[in-house]
Amino acid sequence: MKLFHVLKSQQFDRERLDYLCSLSTVVRKVAKSRAGSDFLRSRLSHRRAMLYFTQPSTRTFLSFLNACQILGIQTSEIRDPSTSSEYKGEDLKDALRTFSSYVDLIVMRTNREGVADRIADHLDATDRPIPVINAGSGKDQHPSQALLDVYTLHRSFQFKGGIDGKTIAMVGDLARGRTVRSLCYLMKNYEDVRLVFVSPHGFGMLPDLKEFLTKRSIAFEETDDLRDVLPRCDALYMTRVQDEHDVDDESHSFDADRFTLHYDDLARLREDAVIMHPLPRRQEIDRRIDGDSRAMYWRQARNGMWMRVAMIATIFDVAGEILDHAADVYTTSELRDVGP
Ligand code: NCD
Repeated sequence: MKLFHVLKSQQFDRERLDYLCSLSTVVRKVAKSRAGSDFLRSRLSHRRAMLYFTQPSTRTFLSFLNACQILGIQTSEIRDPSTSSEYKGEDLKDALRTFSSYVDLIVMRTNREGVADRIADHLDATDRPIPVINAGSGKDQHPSQALLDVYTLHRSFQFKGGIDGKTIAMVGDLARGRTVRSLCYLMKNYEDVRLVFVSPHGFGMLPDLKEFLTKRSIAFEETDDLRDVLPRCDALYMTRVQDEHDVDDESHSFDADRFTLHYDDLARLREDAVIMHPLPRRQEIDRRIDGDSRAMYWRQARNGMWMRVAMIATIFDVAGEILDHAADVYTTSELRDVGP
C-alpha cells in the first residue's frame, strides 16, 4: 500500500481505509509489549518530522507527536508563527521549503483552506519533495481526524456488520466544522450509509458537500430536531460551535441547548449506538454521559494516535515489516481485537 501526502479525505478509497484500520489495530497490539514497542521505535529512528501547528491544537498535535515517538521519529515544532521568520514577512512557501531541507515529513495545521495542498505542490516541484500531512486546514478539511473517526466507527461496528448500512447523525455547526466535512467525504467508500445533519438554521452543511453526496448517491437529510433523530441513529457525532470564525457574534443567535446531548436523552438512544465527538467539547455533551458505555469520544482520541502511527508507517513504507513482525508473534485472533 502506497501513501505519500495526506491532504484531503477524497483521496482515500475503501481498500486504503480497511488497510489503515487493520494496521492501526496491529500497531496498538504490537506496542503493548516492551519488545514490540522497541521494534516499532527502531523502524523510523533515522527519520525526522516537523510539526507546524500555527492554529491551536491539543489532541491532534499530541497524537501526531506521540505517533512519531512510537515509530522513533525525532520531531521539531513551530506552534507560534510570531517566533518564525514568517513574522519578518517570509512567504509560507519559503518557510516550509526551509523546513523540508531539515526533515523528512511535514505535518501542518493552519487556519486557511487549501494551504497544505499548495505547500505539497510547491515541495513536489523542488529537489526535495517530502510528504505533507494536513492536520487541519481552516474550515475545510481535517483528513487525519476523518481517518480516526472511520477507525472508531469500524471498531464500534466490527461485529455488527461494519459501517455499511449505518445511520450517522452529525450535530452542531456543520457549516464551519472541518471534521464533519472530511468525515462526510469518506462516506463515499461505504454502502447504504445514511447521514442526518442536525444543525441550527444558517449553520447547515454547505452546498458543495451536499452536491458531493448527491453525486455519489449518499443519502442525507437535514433537520434541527436532535431529539427526533436520537432513536434512529447508530452513531451520533457531536461537534462544538466554531465561534472563532464568527464575523458578527452569529454563534449566539440560536439556542445551543437544542444541540446538546443531555443525560436524559440517553434513554432515547439505542443501546448499541455510539456517541462520538472530535473534542474539544464545551457543553454539547453532558459530562455524566462520559461513564455510559456508548460514549466513545475518549477512545476516539486514543484511536487517533494509532491511526496516525499507521498512516506514518505506510507513508515511510515500514507497514509491511510491522505486519510481518506481528504475524510472527501473535495469532490472527489475537490481532483482531485488542480492547481500548
Ligand atoms: C477539531 C478541529 O480542530 O477541527 N479538533 C480536533 O482536531 N480534534 C474540532 C474542533 O476544534 O471543534
